[in-house]
Amino acid sequence: MSVQLFEGKDHAAIYQKYRFPPSPDLLNIIFSYLEEKKGKPYDLAVDVGCGSGQSTWLLVPHFARVLGTDISEAQIEQAKRIPSPSHVSYCVFPAEALPVEDGSVDLLTAFAAAHWFDIQPFMRELERVLKPGGSVSLSSYTLNMKIRYGDCSEALSELFRETQAVLKKHANEKLHVLFSEYQEILDLMPFPDKKRIIFQVNETSFTVAGLMGFLQSLSMFQMFKNAQPEAAEAFLQQTQSRFLETMKVSSPETPLEITLEYICVLACKTPKEKVAT
Ligand SMILES: C[S@@+](CC[C@H](N)C(=O)[O-])C[C@H]1O[C@@H](n2cnc3c(N)ncnc32)[C@H](O)[C@@H]1O
Repeated sequence: MSVQLFEGKDHAAIYQKYRFPPSPDLLNIIFSYLEEKKGKPYDLAVDVGCGSGQSTWLLVPHFARVLGTDISEAQIEQAKRIPSPSHVSYCVFPAEALPVEDGSVDLLTAFAAAHWFDIQPFMRELERVLKPGGSVSLSSYTLNMKIRYGDCSEALSELFRETQAVLKKHANEKLHVLFSEYQEILDLMPFPDKKRIIFQVNETSFTVAGLMGFLQSLSMFQMFKNAQPEAAEAFLQQTQSRFLETMKVSSPETPLEITLEYICVLACKTPKEKVAT
């Protein structure tokens, strides 16, 4: 069954402000794959679970038509607030029933979203909508982050792991797909031509306040806040104080560096001429 944890307007705004846009390295991997498997022309890309649109934007220069879909009205409303070119559109639709014709999609992406979908119906929908030779990329950053600042990088990374351990108590069960690094998604992908890549990316423009914003954008934090608003707020304040104390600084705007881990499952729908008869 679909879960809707990204509905609140406040959450959508926090999300748009603090979530990382997908890394250029990830984009390079996806486009090299698409080029290798199918090549141009690139007509239609669909970004499923597009949220507030920051992942969809990365596809805009490359395709004749780009569609962002999401189950959350609040997220789509947020995405539509940013003016976009005429070949880009957004609509509220579940990943398991997309508003596109059979065999029409050159590239289907889901960034930080596929673990929320109902996997089996979504896989059937993938088979339906992709063009023969079309590609799919289901990717996400994981929570295996390393934090670097001066000589306290190890202490900060440990503090981040402790913070996650508290938040994981509030995790929706669907997050197990992410915690097991999309193994289930790889296994259930219906095309024989498939692979999973795991890689790391350094992000430099980050602050302590930005990291706290990122924590607030997590569904686990939002569930904690819904259940125990005061405890969740106190936990966030306490976490920020512990970061600042460890770093021996007072400003939440102090910059730090993080290393993000990404997972990406790539697959290609077998072109008709290659299907064994
Ligand atoms: C973590 S956000 C990722 C948003 C965006 N792709 C990004 O990179 O920032 C996950 C999104 O998936 C959407 N979502 C969850 N289940 C869905 C479903 N069954 N169908 C479509 N969207 C879904 C949520 O509403 C949310 O906006």
